[in-house]
Amino acid sequence: MTFFSRHWSTYRQVLEHDLMEHSALTAAITQTIGGWLAQRAPGTPTLHALDLGCGDLSLLPPLLRRLPLASFTGLDLNGAVLPLANAALGLVPYPCQFLEGDLLAWAEAEPPEPTVDLLLSSFAIHHLQEPDKGRFLRGCRRRIDPDGLLLWADVFRAPGESRDTYVARYSARVHGWSPLEQERQEEVITHLSQWDHPADPEAIVSQAEAAGWQWRWAWQGQHQAEALAALTPA
Ligand SMILES: C[S@@+](CC[C@H](N)C(=O)[O-])C[C@H]1O[C@@H](n2cnc3c(N)ncnc32)[C@H](O)[C@@H]1O
Repeated sequence: MTFFSRHWSTYRQVLEHDLMEHSALTAAITQTIGGWLAQRAPGTPTLHALDLGCGDLSLLPPLLRRLPLASFTGLDLNGAVLPLANAALGLVPYPCQFLEGDLLAWAEAEPPEPTVDLLLSSFAIHHLQEPDKGRFLRGCRRRIDPDGLLLWADVFRAPGESRDTYVARYSARVHGWSPLEQERQEEVITHLSQWDHPADPEAIVSQAEAAGWQWRWAWQGQHQAEALAALTPA
């Protein structure tokens, strides 16, 4: 098994056992998009959607198949996941593309490309270091349609919590993930200790507002970590 397939199969087990609350999160995403669509002017024609850090699309394909999209783009740093995402989505009546790329580079692309109506990002932005999250928010603000929606699903720290305390807290939680064998639990902990930089939930709201977004918490998980933010242009 390659490093990628081992790592990805562990992540699939996390999903299958709902250890990161993907089920409740996906229900919240579905409900939030439904509310946003209901507010849009009737007959608003096109809806271009993009998933940043799409992975294999996790639980989103049934929702994506139902949405009235004009196009869908999945973007991920790891090209190996893109065929998985494509296969998971299957046949849909709108054009799709799956691109290998960096979500921050996409947000900051010059000149800004055509705007997008619906931006999704799930468990990917926390890989950005602190100043880069602000850059990402400013970049996406330029690229969202005035009536658009950015849904940011991710892990967040508790207010005022240090990264070290968060990592210790989340690692203790992973040790309770009994459906995962211990070796896989340790792999998850090694990964999150190295790569995860969840935002402080209060500081990031200030940064988003300074970047021209209106922030609303659309869902909070049970562990003061997983959450969904709905951002609209202010
Ligand atoms: C934990 S997985 C989440 C996958 C899926 N969105 C989900 O919710 O299950 C994180 C994904 O983000 C991608 N990723 C991490 N940093 C990225 C970046 N800077 N640009 C694009 N994708 C990134 C990883 O390759 C991985 O596929």
